[in-house]
Amino acid sequence: MLDPEPLQYVNIIMNGYDGRVREGYGVMPAVGANANLSPEEVTAIMNHERTSWGNNAPKVTVEQVRKYLEEIKAKATTK
Ligand code: HEM
Repeated sequence: MLDPEPLQYVNIIMNGYDGRVREGYGVMPAVGANANLSPEEVTAIMNHERTSWGNNAPKVTVEQVRKYLEEIKAKATTK
């Protein structure tokens, strides 16, 4: 999750993740949506992960995260 354009990371935080259930992995709940996380909170979580435990990815900005949140919503409404 050190991608410079981490749309997928924002999506996992907001909506959870169930891509590997068939391999026996658990389902991650929609932590961000359930907790109604703000763009600022999502940004803080992402930057914590991107700069901790030896990770050294460029920080994301709140503006970037807002843009991804918009894209995810746009996708959700076209379903
Ligand atoms: C803000 C907090 C969290 C963040 C940033 C986060 C992040 C992630 C990410 C990035 C993945 C995908 C990993 C991959 O590349 O396969 C993932 C998967 C997962 N997460 Fe979370 N997560 C959070 C909270 C939680 C919580 C609270 C739970 C459980 C109650 C949880 C359970 C899981 C599970 C079961 C998977 C699936 C593992 C797999 O299929 O490989 N996560 N999480």
